[in-house]
Order: sequence, then C-alpha cells, then structure tokens
Amino acid sequence: MRRYTSLEVAAIERYGGLAWIRARYDGAVEGYCPGVFVMLWVPGFEAIPMSVSWLDEYGVEFVVRPVGPTTRQLYDAKPGMRLGMVGPLGSCATRLLRGARRVLLIGGGSGAAPLPWLASELLSRGADVTVILGVRDSREAGIRRVFEMHGIRVFVACEEAGGGCDRVGLAVGDWVLSLGSFDRVVAAGPPGMLREAYRLFGDRLVVFLEKKVVCGVGFCGACRVKPGGPLLCRDGPAFEAREVREVLEAAT
Ligand SMILES: Cc1cc2nc3c(=O)[nH]c(=O)nc-3n(C[C@H](O)[C@H](O)[C@H](O)COP(=O)(O)OP(=O)(O)OC[C@H]3O[C@@H](n4cnc5c(N)ncnc54)[C@H](O)[C@@H]3O)c2cc1C
Ligand code: FES
Repeated sequence: MRRYTSLEVAAIERYGGLAWIRARYDGAVEGYCPGVFVMLWVPGFEAIPMSVSWLDEYGVEFVVRPVGPTTRQLYDAKPGMRLGMVGPLGSCATRLLRGARRVLLIGGGSGAAPLPWLASELLSRGADVTVILGVRDSREAGIRRVFEMHGIRVFVACEEAGGGCDRVGLAVGDWVLSLGSFDRVVAAGPPGMLREAYRLFGDRLVVFLEKKVVCGVGFCGACRVKPGGPLLCRDGPAFEAREVREVLEAAT
C-alpha cells in the first residue's frame, strides 16, 4: 500500500558526481520490492521521482546525481536532514525476470541506482549475476562500494582513465559480449545507452525508463511511455524492451 513515510538521513557518501544516501524511516514500510521508486520530498524544494537502491528493516538507500535544485540539495544532504517519501510506486522489476539464470545488469551513471537491490534479490534466487557500471571518472567509480557493501561484485568502465576503473571508454559492447552469454539483460541509464543495449541484446533486454512524473499514481497520464502505451509510474519503470521498442530505437 502506498503511504507517506518520514525519513532522516543517516549517512551520505559522495563519489564525484554521484552521492549515496542512507536514511532511517519512521514506523514500518510495506510493499517495496527491487525496481520500485518513490516520490522523495526534500523540504523547501520539490518531491521528485527517485529509485529505491536498497531497502531493509533498518533503512532505505538512494543514489543521486545532481542535475537541478532538488537533486543538488539531496547531494549536499547531511546526517540528520529530514526527508519524506511516498511509495512504493511502480512495479517490481523481478516480475520480468522470473526463471532468469544468467543475468547481466548494466547501469550508466545514476542509472546504477535501482541495481544493488535487484542484483541481491536475483542472487538470492540462485541466478548468476554480472554487474557493469559506466561512470565518468575514477571518483565516480567509487560507487562500486555501494554494491560491494551489499556483497555484489561489479565491473566499472570509466570515460576517463583512473584508479578504480576496470576499463577506459564507455563503448563497452565487445567487452560485454566477451563476459559470456546471458539469458536476460537489464539496462538502466541514459537513452543512448539503452538504445545500444537494445541493439546488442534485442528482446532479452529489460530497460528502466525515465519520464516526467506528476501524479505518480496512474491518474494524469503525464508519464505515458508512448501514445497508447503503458504508464511509467504504474507499469514501470522497468519494461520489457520489446514493449517499448519504438522508444528505444528513437532514443538519442
Ligand atoms: C522513475 C524515476 C526514477 C528516478 N531515479 C533516480 C535516481 O535513482 N537517481 C537520480 O539521481 N535521479 C533519478 N531520477 C531522475 C530525477 O527524478 C530527476 O533528476 C529530478 O527530478 C530532477 O529534479 P531537480 O529539481 O534536481 O532538477 P530539475 O530542475 O527538475 O531538472 C534538471 C534537468 O534534469 C532534467 N530532468 C528532470 N527530470 C528528469 C527525468 N525524469 N528524466 C530525464 N531528465 C530529467 C530536466 O529536464 C532538466 O534539464 C529518476 C526519475 C524517474 C522518472
Ligand atoms: S505521473 Fe504517471 S499517470 Fe500521472
């Protein structure tokens, strides 16, 4: 059931242009699963859609890239800061990955956000999981610690060379294909990355999309993914690539 929950920032780590935030919540939370998002309210600013990176009995985690006033305020958060969240919104990504045995997860920048919890859930179901992250530089490569902290191994490709990068350059198609064969692939990141992933993996692909979210509850239609198509805030944000093929092929 969707509800408002009050949060208090417990810890924040900044890795270049990405920040990891862990917050404690008041009371209990229900209905959350890997892949869902929340409307995260930052007092004095807006309520914005944010993927849930991790959730357990002690708290909830987010990964944020500052792009405007509200995300900048989050990036600058300090322990003790109060936030509010309304959720869970959207659908579990795991519903698309039932029976998957060898899964590749690819995250670009803040697209890494929904992947730690999803990777952990797939591992606990016995899947063989490989995670690849694409980031700008060695400082952002530090985001790998968020995965490692939760027992998930990652490979990191950086745009610029530096420590903590397993590879330089984000054209990773050959590298990805050399890592083995996967029956399912999940991609979350900028539109161009999703288009390239669809070219490489076709209908094996599941994608996380982003759209402007207004009501968040399937009422206003602002987040419709394509004319006559599904609503991101209700049916997504993870979709079978074949369901949103036109969106991926047109992505720039
Ligand atoms: C389901 C969902 C999950 C998301 N999860 C995360 C996450 O885990 N971490 C994270 O850092 N960001 C995430 N985002 C994006 C985040 O919501 C936006 O960056 C945020 O709303 C920007 O707010 P702002 O006030 O900081 O900037 P604004 O001033 O609102 O926007 C700054 C710039 O970012 C662009 N922008 C805003 N929202 C989006 C969007 N949804 N998609 C593409 N461009 C956008 C605007 O057009 C503008 O150019 C998610 C978005 C969605 C829809
Ligand atoms: S934001 Fe999805 S229907 Fe309103």
